[in-house]
Amino acid sequence: MTDLLTLLSPTLHSDSTVFVTGGATGINLGIAETFARTGAKVSICGRTEAKLASAAEHLRQFGADVLHTVADVRDHDALAAALARTCEAFGPVTTVIAGAAGNFNAPAEKISANGFRTVIDIDLLGSFNTARAAFEQLQRTSGSIVFVSAGQAYCCTPNQAHAGAAKAGIENLAKNLALEWGRYGIRANTIVPGPIAATEGLDRLSAEVGSEEWRRAVPLGRFGTTTDIGVMAAVLASPLGNYITGSQVIVDGGFGLAGFGMLHRAWLELEPQGVTS
Ligand code: HXC
Repeated sequence: MTDLLTLLSPTLHSDSTVFVTGGATGINLGIAETFARTGAKVSICGRTEAKLASAAEHLRQFGADVLHTVADVRDHDALAAALARTCEAFGPVTTVIAGAAGNFNAPAEKISANGFRTVIDIDLLGSFNTARAAFEQLQRTSGSIVFVSAGQAYCCTPNQAHAGAAKAGIENLAKNLALEWGRYGIRANTIVPGPIAATEGLDRLSAEVGSEEWRRAVPLGRFGTTTDIGVMAAVLASPLGNYITGSQVIVDGGFGLAGFGMLHRAWLELEPQGVTS
């Protein structure tokens, strides 16, 4: 397969400073790498110092200036401190990727109130905290924020009531911010990744029905790559996307087109069926 990054100018983001939450792993690291390879200064934050340090080393091999900071997106003040450090080191952020997420597979009747709240706190509140803490810097740069959403926001999925609710909230939040912050020149969009190979998210979500069942549900017949998502984020956040705001960009190989019915049928075979009264 063509290395998509060879198709993007290595200077596309030479005037950019990108701040990526959850940037140490998975899709978010893929996004950070795409920005690193297109000239941006890259700041990643997350919860685990060791993972961040290793990701930062990885990103430096592309010649990028890289900073990493420990911050939990549930903690607005920690995010504000991470963003202040980024500004000191690299100047105000031009691009924010709100990517940090937490998820697990659980039927709604087995999720505790705290379990539900934890996912809402990480995904939805964490996305708001990120946008809110970055607002002043984004205002200075007429910058752009990209939220990492999920198909669960609009396709009901077994065992995902908590994550679907959180991601649906993110979709609405992004549109509201696009509406309100357009006057400051700030753009806000979401990307909906499909099943992306070699990510913790796919491993967790496909554990029950099996990854082959998931792959067969993708019309294009393959899992996506973190580069597929990174390239879209880099284009959206660049001048190439300068008239796109309030949009939901689906990068899923067609995975959501028929709903997730196939997964639902597989799930029904695993669970006791029917309603008893
Ligand atoms: C039911 C669970 C559970 C499970 C945790 N909980 N795992 N409930 N089934 N498998 C409950 C706990 O019992 C607890 O409730 C509450 O959730 C909080 O759990 P903690 O472990 O204390 O929380 P925390 O340490 O903050 O961890 C957050 C986490 C964890 C989301 C639960 O899995 C995590 O840190 N994940 C980050 C990595 C991750 O999820 N990567 C995949 C992201 S992929 P009680 O009541 O017992 O106190 C992704 C793709 C999204 O997000 C696509 C779909 C939208």
